[in-house]
Amino acid sequence: MIVMKTEYRTHTCGELSAAHENQIVVLAGWVAKQRNHGGMVFIDLRDREGLIQIVFHPERDKPMTERAGRLRMEAVIAVRGRVTRRPQEMVNKDLRTGEIEIEAHELNVLNEARPLPFMIRDDNDASDELRFQYRYLDLRRPVMQKNMMLRHRAGQTVRRFFDEEGFTEIETPYLMKSTPEGARDYLVPSRIHRGRFYALPQSPQTYKQLLMIAGYDRYFQIVRCFRDEDLRADRQPEFTQIDVEMSFVGEEDVLNTVERLMARLFQEILGIHLDTPFPRLAYQEAMDRYGSDHPDLRFGMEIQDISDWACRVPFRVFQETLRKGGRVRGFKVENTFFSRRQTDDLTEYVRLLGVGGLIAVQWRDGEMISPLVRFLEDSQKNELTRLFNACEEDAIFLTADTEALCCESLGSLRKKIAENLNRVDTNRYSPLWVLDFPLLEWNEEERRYVARHHPFTSPNEEDWDLLETAPEKVRARAYDLVLNGYEIAGGSIRIHNRPMQDRMFGVLGLSPESAEDKFGFLLKALEYGAPPHGGIAFGFDRLVMLLAGETSIREVIAFPKTTSALSLMDGSPSGVGLEQLGELGLKINRKD
Ligand code: AMO
Repeated sequence: MIVMKTEYRTHTCGELSAAHENQIVVLAGWVAKQRNHGGMVFIDLRDREGLIQIVFHPERDKPMTERAGRLRMEAVIAVRGRVTRRPQEMVNKDLRTGEIEIEAHELNVLNEARPLPFMIRDDNDASDELRFQYRYLDLRRPVMQKNMMLRHRAGQTVRRFFDEEGFTEIETPYLMKSTPEGARDYLVPSRIHRGRFYALPQSPQTYKQLLMIAGYDRYFQIVRCFRDEDLRADRQPEFTQIDVEMSFVGEEDVLNTVERLMARLFQEILGIHLDTPFPRLAYQEAMDRYGSDHPDLRFGMEIQDISDWACRVPFRVFQETLRKGGRVRGFKVENTFFSRRQTDDLTEYVRLLGVGGLIAVQWRDGEMISPLVRFLEDSQKNELTRLFNACEEDAIFLTADTEALCCESLGSLRKKIAENLNRVDTNRYSPLWVLDFPLLEWNEEERRYVARHHPFTSPNEEDWDLLETAPEKVRARAYDLVLNGYEIAGGSIRIHNRPMQDRMFGVLGLSPESAEDKFGFLLKALEYGAPPHGGIAFGFDRLVMLLAGETSIREVIAFPKTTSALSLMDGSPSGVGLEQLGELGLKINRKD
């Protein structure tokens, strides 16, 4: 226990126990609960370390007891009093300090509090809007305090780990050159250089590569990144990365370092042993079997391709889909019967994801029931049952669409059903590496190939010849770390020579002039003795979210934004005065 004695107090609320019996103590904190009982006033006093009960006896000091009775929730008070043992029948086993209470001798009101917008309790039902607007009150809740402290401890473990492993933490600029690739940049106008803009970094990617070229060998940084992209529960416009780069390494070196960091974090923070090495899946296999490149392996329901079976079924949707090059895929849910209403809801769910429909196959009294049944011969029914190794207590869901939509819809459905049926073992942590990503993906809007990770990722040497001829077939030397269905880290071995980097920009459709304009600084640096290097970046918020058992990163960020990138507490983004705009040489066009 850390001693936090100050001019205001001798102890913290949470640190006292029966061992302090009869001591005179001074405590300071917030009124968490207050009740009158037969003229006596009981107050639960709360500080960061915990709660303790204070008792005011009217026969000892009537005016003080009356003042205590008038205190509002969350008023800040200091109390001098004696630690006494509670009578046996009053002991509260749920409270760390439940064996004792403080008999108040003196009350000092340090500050009043207005009526609260919501109760400061872990189980309050305040809306997210209210919680964000009064975030300082929300952060007072014990669960939030626990999350923030866990985040702090995780950060300290990360720093200790990298320090011991010979990494140097180096800060990189927050005002940098705008080189959007992936998400949009947040821009910062320059006052001194009117009409010119800095960008806030989407990640320190180019800087960390320059640090390798500068000979620092091993770099890490716990660093804020900024991306103007669509937000959701695991995405914020500003988020934190554990950013890592290493020289003279191959994939195995990076993967091994990360596994040791993960094992250390889980051991120190949760006391949980993670088995290493982590399992590995090739990207294509992950997509085929789980419909996702960040699959949750804590439950089964693996997806199977049954196109070979479906092509013999005279069902129009199957025939048309397969003729157009699509697939028929599905998965089995063990030991469940879905009612008509439930299958309708699930069908609606996948329709919203863009597929035409969902076919359920189930059994009742030994008979297969499904909209498909009238198209199936007995042998085909048996074959389908055998393909999924199903029995009559199981249900099978099938969909027919393009390969991409089959993956997306069945991947999401698999997760949704597992959650609905409580099939996810929430006490399990299931890390895995996803490898062999394609280097590029076709972007229909821009009508060009874009980098799946970023343009500095090295192509797999065996695929170099395909770069210009069959770009979509080139594999990247990239790796993602997935935990319980979340992508928590991603990285790659980098291109470290200029000719290959020039070639890569060419494949991405960047003219030499445009490449020079955007990334000239990096291209030049690659010509001055760049060592082979590679690295990775963790989404620190996501990692802490999983360590804390939360399902949104907003629960582990002190002052998050809403999904529309607003800060409800301070009202940003906000308008600025004409004078400020004028200084920057900016004018707002309100027409659109
Ligand atoms: P990447 O873009 O994959 O890689 O980001 C690394 C990790 O950061 C997390 N992440 C986010 N977390 C919260 N909110 C967001 N908006 C958000 N975007 C990403 C994810 C992701 O795995 N420079 C490269 C890394 C490298 O190659 O070394 C990079 O930034 O957990």
